[in-house]
This record gives sequence, structure tokens and C-alpha cells, in this order.
Amino acid sequence: MYKIITKRELNPTVTMMDIYAPLVAKKAQAGQFIILRVDSDGERIPLTVAGYDREKGTVEIIFQIVGGTTMRLNQKNEGEFIADFVGPLGCATKTEGLKKVCIVGGGVGCAIALPVARKLHEQGAEVHSIIGFRNKDLLILEEEFKAASNKLTVMTDDGSYGRQGVVTVPLKEAIESGEHYDEVIAIGPLIMMKCVVATTKPYNIPTTVSMNPIMIDGTGMCGGCRLTVGGKTRFACVDGPDFNGFEVDFDEAMARSSMYADFEKREREGLCNLFKKEAD
Ligand SMILES: Cc1cc2nc3c(=O)[nH]c(=O)nc-3n(C[C@H](O)[C@H](O)[C@H](O)COP(=O)(O)OP(=O)(O)OC[C@H]3O[C@@H](n4cnc5c(N)ncnc54)[C@H](O)[C@@H]3O)c2cc1C
Ligand code: FES
Repeated sequence: MYKIITKRELNPTVTMMDIYAPLVAKKAQAGQFIILRVDSDGERIPLTVAGYDREKGTVEIIFQIVGGTTMRLNQKNEGEFIADFVGPLGCATKTEGLKKVCIVGGGVGCAIALPVARKLHEQGAEVHSIIGFRNKDLLILEEEFKAASNKLTVMTDDGSYGRQGVVTVPLKEAIESGEHYDEVIAIGPLIMMKCVVATTKPYNIPTTVSMNPIMIDGTGMCGGCRLTVGGKTRFACVDGPDFNGFEVDFDEAMARSSMYADFEKREREGLCNLFKKEAD
């Protein structure tokens, strides 16, 4: 069992937790993830290591409440326990040799991008971050990104905070104004990462994306997380989650990501009805 040490609401749909998991904290690196189960009969879900404290033995996770399991996780409070917390899994983000990088984060993808920005900042790279949200109420981690970046641009779709527009607008402006990035690292919804790649490809700027397909075992055994990258089948859990954005088949990934939409909708509705009955 793994104890929840701290719990903090970042916005109405995004929660941060520090979990006591000293063996995971000891080895975790930016870009890796864990797989947890809230209860012993619950489903396994992957969440990125958003931070860690090796001395305290804690691992930070930041999750968006989107369905059954994240709803159940969010019902847990400080001092309570979750059943399983396995990791670190996947490959760490490669940052060696990078001197100037643009990090592009979208929505809860910013939680995955933050440890990468921090790592690059700590190793002395110039970090420009662009983070985007649908509106001001969904903004997360602004102060944390400010601390880890030489330059931060916040975008909202409706203009309720920062600049209005999508993240690719300031990215294209920066490239066209002569910023020479060694790499662009994009983490967010599939459509956002696809658009970032469409922006950087004409300038041939190496672009890394973090893929988040359905994962089950997280060890390369089940094939659930397969993607086509450079014409070959790759498993996001062991070969990724980071991949060369120029080589990812985004259209296939988007089609696969909606495969279980009906099942997930039924699970969410079932859970909500259950809550309604309990409240009555
Ligand atoms: C490597 C990786 C890292 C991730 N890191 C984060 C993170 O740091 N913060 C965060 O909020 N989310 C993260 N996710 C997504 C997170 O796993 C899903 O939001 C979560 O599984 C939703 O489960 P649910 O039962 O609440 O929702 P459901 O209603 O079951 O599903 C909602 C959506 O979540 C995704 N999803 C559901 N089950 C899985 C699964 N087993 N594996 C992958 N995706 C799934 C699907 O896109 C689905 O449409 C990550 C996913 C991957 C693959
Ligand atoms: S999650 Fe099973 S192979 Fe990747």
C-alpha cells in the first residue's frame, strides 16, 4: 500500500499528489511514468512522474479527472493509501547536449512537460516554454514553469489569460524571428503534438513528442500501447513514451485512442449514478 502524503487541487479538474514510494523515488527520472491501481480490484492507469524527492521518498503525480479511475483516485485524501504504484517505467527523456530548447505543453500535458523543463534548466540549457489551456480556469503550473524557463508564454484558446490562440502561433513566431532551437519538445493532446510537428518540420527542427496510448501492463507484453513510428511498430511503454515527432503516425494513434470511448463513457456514467444514489 502506498500512502498519500500531500494532496492539492491545481484547478477544478486537476489534482497533485505526493505518494510515499521510496524505491520509485530513488530511480525516477524526467519523462518516466508509473502505473497505479487505486484499489486492489481497480484498473491499472499510467501517470507521469511529475517530480520526486529522493530524500523524503516521495513521487509527485498530477492527474486530470477524466473518468472512473481518476475520479476514484481523486476521492482519496492525505493519509489514505492506494493499492499499487509501480515504476519507474519507460525511458527517460534524452536531454544530453541540448543547449536551447522550446518546451510546448498543452493542458494536463504541462504536468508531463514540467520535469523535462526543470531537468534542462538545471543542466544549464536555455529553456523557452509555451503552455496552452482552453481558458484561465484550467491554467496550471504557471509559477513552476516560470522558475524552470528563461522565457514563458501562456496561451488560452479564449484569451481569458495570457495571449489568445494556440501554442503553435508563438512557436512559429519564435522560429521565424530567428530563435535557433536544438530541439522542440511537445507534450499534450495528440492533435496539438501533430500541429507542433507540422510547424517545426518545414524548418527541420528536431521535435520530440510524448505519446500516451492506452497502456495495460506497461512492460511491453500486451501490445496495447503499440504505435507506428517510422513505419515500424513500437511500444510506447518500453520504447517511449518519447518519440521522434516526424516519424509518428498521428492519424493512426488518434483513431486507436478513441477505440474504448463507449466503454469509458458507460463507466463514467455508472460511477456518477452511483454517486447520485449515495448522495440521495
Ligand atoms: C505514459 C502515460 C503517461 C500519462 N501521464 C498522465 C499524467 O501525468 N497526468 C494525467 O492526467 N494523465 C496522464 N496520462 C493519461 C491517463 O493515464 C488517463 O487519463 C487515465 O488512464 C484515465 O483513466 P480513467 O479511468 O480516469 O478514464 P477513462 O474514462 O477510462 O479514460 C479517459 C481517457 O483516458 C485515457 N486512458 C484510459 N485508460 C488508459 C490507460 N490504461 N492507459 C492510457 N490511457 C488511458 C484514454 O485516452 C481515455 O479516452 C498518461 C498516459 C500515458 C500512457
Ligand atoms: S502497455 Fe502493454 S505493451 Fe505497452
